[in-house]
Amino acid sequence: MATRAQQAKPDRIDRSVDSLLKLMTLEEKIGQLNLLTSDLDQTGASLRPQYRKDIEAGLVGAVFNAYGVGYVRKLQDIAVKQTRLKIPLLFGYDVIHGHKTIFPMPLAMAASWDMARIEGAQRIAATEAAAMGIDWTFAPMIDISRDPRWGRVMEGTGEDTYLGVQIAKAQVRGFQGRGLSDVTSVMACAKHYAAYGAAQAGRDYNTVDISERVLRDVYLPPFKAAADAGCATFMTAFNELDGVPATASQHLLKDILRREWGFKGFVVTDYTAITEMILHGYSVDSAQAGKQAILAGNDMDMQASIYQKTLPGLVRSKQVPESVINESAGRILRKKFELGLFADPYRRMDSARQSASLLTPAHRAAARDMAARSCVLLKNNGVLPIKSSVKKIAVIGPLADAQHDMIGAWSAAGDDITAISLLKGLKDNLKGIEITYLKGCDITSKNELQDKIDGGAAMALANDADLVILALGESKEQSGEASSRSTIKLPGAQQALLAYVKTIGKPIALVLFNGRPLDLSDIVDMPDAILEAWFPGTEAGNGVADVLMGTYNPAGKITLTFPRSVGQVPLFYNQKNTGRPLNDKEKYTSKYLDIPNTPLFPFGYGLSYTTFSYGAPAISKRELKMGDSLTVRVIVTNTGKTAGEEIVQFYVQDLVGSVTRPVIELKGFKKINLAPGQAQEVVFTLHEQDLRFYTQSMRFASEPGGFKASTGPNSADVQSVLFSLK
Ligand code: GLC
Repeated sequence: MATRAQQAKPDRIDRSVDSLLKLMTLEEKIGQLNLLTSDLDQTGASLRPQYRKDIEAGLVGAVFNAYGVGYVRKLQDIAVKQTRLKIPLLFGYDVIHGHKTIFPMPLAMAASWDMARIEGAQRIAATEAAAMGIDWTFAPMIDISRDPRWGRVMEGTGEDTYLGVQIAKAQVRGFQGRGLSDVTSVMACAKHYAAYGAAQAGRDYNTVDISERVLRDVYLPPFKAAADAGCATFMTAFNELDGVPATASQHLLKDILRREWGFKGFVVTDYTAITEMILHGYSVDSAQAGKQAILAGNDMDMQASIYQKTLPGLVRSKQVPESVINESAGRILRKKFELGLFADPYRRMDSARQSASLLTPAHRAAARDMAARSCVLLKNNGVLPIKSSVKKIAVIGPLADAQHDMIGAWSAAGDDITAISLLKGLKDNLKGIEITYLKGCDITSKNELQDKIDGGAAMALANDADLVILALGESKEQSGEASSRSTIKLPGAQQALLAYVKTIGKPIALVLFNGRPLDLSDIVDMPDAILEAWFPGTEAGNGVADVLMGTYNPAGKITLTFPRSVGQVPLFYNQKNTGRPLNDKEKYTSKYLDIPNTPLFPFGYGLSYTTFSYGAPAISKRELKMGDSLTVRVIVTNTGKTAGEEIVQFYVQDLVGSVTRPVIELKGFKKINLAPGQAQEVVFTLHEQDLRFYTQSMRFASEPGGFKASTGPNSADVQSVLFSLK
């Protein structure tokens, strides 16, 4: 329940908004609905060079891709000194995983399963962004995806809804901090609403065609969690959903977001998404697109300028009620009041604070820590951590000295020149060890014939070393927006480079830098160890060196399945059983002729430098009543010689439902830290509400029947216990 003070504030702001709206012309109100990119950075195809003139005419409510106190002050000056009503601009930017201090890409941070540190990372991102004039980040990106071909998996949380919900909440908390009136806070923006990650064939912007039940059970919960966490804004997705572009979907924007969830913030479209409704074949022209989008509940038009061009005429011809314009403009003005922009339009434009806030030692330390915690140890036959007997290391590969790639896609104002490469991280942190280096080949190549592989040189370097650290992976440009890949193998000639080095027979630790799960089937047996480092950000080399040296014992676990082949995709852990589940002894069952059904590495998988054993789960009751809860306890023991963290996972299966149910679903996790030999009892509480889903009659409910509760180190290695819901 809001306190009296909190209740009082919205009333005061409501009154301010209403009195301001009364002073505004129709064009000025529509101006508030207009979001234009600056020319400082570019994140889409179209630009509008005359945007400064538009601001001066009072026809712009917000600007994005602009940051830096000097730059944004000039734009704010136009708005608050040269327009009739002096309404301040909002400044938005894609601060996705850091602003100047770049953190690991979000899919990497998700692999830490560390909600406090994910919140902390976004808190730092908000502090740095707000110090550079930004009031609004276009994050968190909380699109669940099950397809590693899609380039934007790097930006999300992975394939699991429950984990996606936790991360959505943590990010909104981090960005919005103590509230929008706090000068270090920025508005968050839950995107891309909705189901953008379900694009067919993993091809960006492609059609999404899923059932209402899958929409509600799999893709919407992180968005509802963001709304419940107070996320100030939402961004509509490019894709169509059930034949309707998300940007024009009354079902998404009114039925669900506003009526069911009670969302009070404002909605912005994605980049020129209103224009694209014509290309979708949903709108005959801009006027129809503008009308459909505003009536669907889209408050702000990003970069299409369709609202600016068409809404005055649509209102004057009574096709769009002016009350709709007032409502949308009112929502945007309300956020400007909450951000304190009317009190001081320059409050996030303080040069001293800007100089003091960026890339600080504390921010870099947090990024280094997160870089280590995001790493996932996929394989290790003992060569890691680096042994004291190793005196010479050959560092080989195109990602070894790759500052540019370390910050990954969507790295906002991050400067790759401030990033620490793996090579530099090893040289700076490995004392008493000689480091040699060879690039060996390019990251990508036009075709095999053109590949320049320094095979001979690589073999010579390896031959002269005690350990080879191979740094392979993707370029920064091979993931992110408009960067889907039809194959997810290592690009170019990198596998060939690995094969050359393998012939020497020296121990090989492979470090991967990539924006998506890769198909490692051809190479998984070659290296002695595989460390998935993703794109670890500004402190990449230091964080990864901390792991390779054992300063930090890796505990990360993948949140997106690594398939054996892209031919298995979509392959995700919480699949259905089907009526003909795999049976190796039977021909007529669901399988491939050429590879197993299982992934190479399953959801929740990751190793440590120590080992853990799991006892059988103990359940507090075998019968759960509606509205009741039970506990499942499991004893985890560190059976190795090194202290280490373990992400203990808790899963449930609904054995029979009015619709078929996944064979397993994550319902809880706990990250624990155990000394060698130490054991700890981990307790999970399961509420009947946690078993609810959209039943055959589309009621959100749990259904009586049998269930299986499971615990373990990953989704494919669990021990279970049965219970029933009465
Ligand atoms: C892009 C992206 C979106 C981003 C926006 C502004 O096209 O789809 O995630 O926030 O444009 O840069």
